[in-house]
Amino acid sequence: MASNEKPRAKAVSPSGRPAPTAPDEPPGFSRRNFLKTVGVGPLAATVVANRSAEAQNPARTLGPGEVPIELTINGRTHALRVEPRTTLLDAIRNTLDLTGHKRVCDRGSCGACTVIVDGRTAYACSMLAIEAQGKAIRTVEGLALGTVLHPVQKAFCDHDGLMCGFCTPGFVMSTVALLEANPNPTADQARRALDGNTCRCGTYARVLEAALSTKGVARG
Ligand code: FES
Ligand code: FES
Repeated sequence: MASNEKPRAKAVSPSGRPAPTAPDEPPGFSRRNFLKTVGVGPLAATVVANRSAEAQNPARTLGPGEVPIELTINGRTHALRVEPRTTLLDAIRNTLDLTGHKRVCDRGSCGACTVIVDGRTAYACSMLAIEAQGKAIRTVEGLALGTVLHPVQKAFCDHDGLMCGFCTPGFVMSTVALLEANPNPTADQARRALDGNTCRCGTYARVLEAALSTKGVARG
């Protein structure tokens, strides 16, 4: 180094210690730059590939206005128009006028709106109507045969398993789903199957009695 040349300042890290340096890096090349390059290259390629896939298959946007949909409820197909944001519960109640299921919490916590979708219980307030297309939906209206109550409905009446009745359609559907999957549940199994339903009137003991009284007799 020539005597009038100033010594190069050492890089200092935020802690005050000299920053680590790579001793033998060629000029214009650093480990950091290398890592940046190998990390960003494939990412950039992926972004470009995704954009071109999107351009070739643009996502279908529905709404915000009404769109035509079809729902199969209790074995019957209904054609209706709903905004894409419409829940299954609102479509059933407000558009199709099937008002057996009540809107109580409207946020998936009480179970009053429980319906059976493709054999499994579902909160109708927490499912979009457009998502329910192509599925077999069963509501409490589909249980009775004419004036003959479904055995589970009859059991709820016989065991006085309701007070205000707002929760009852949901409990009935959960019980039906339980008995179709397990015709002879134990009390514990029934409790577990019904624990997604709440009753503000506190009829749990009678609901359980009703559910257990229909062991082996529920029909689909
Ligand atoms: S109204 Fe759907 S869970 Fe309460
Ligand atoms: S009977 Fe009233 S909420 Fe259950």
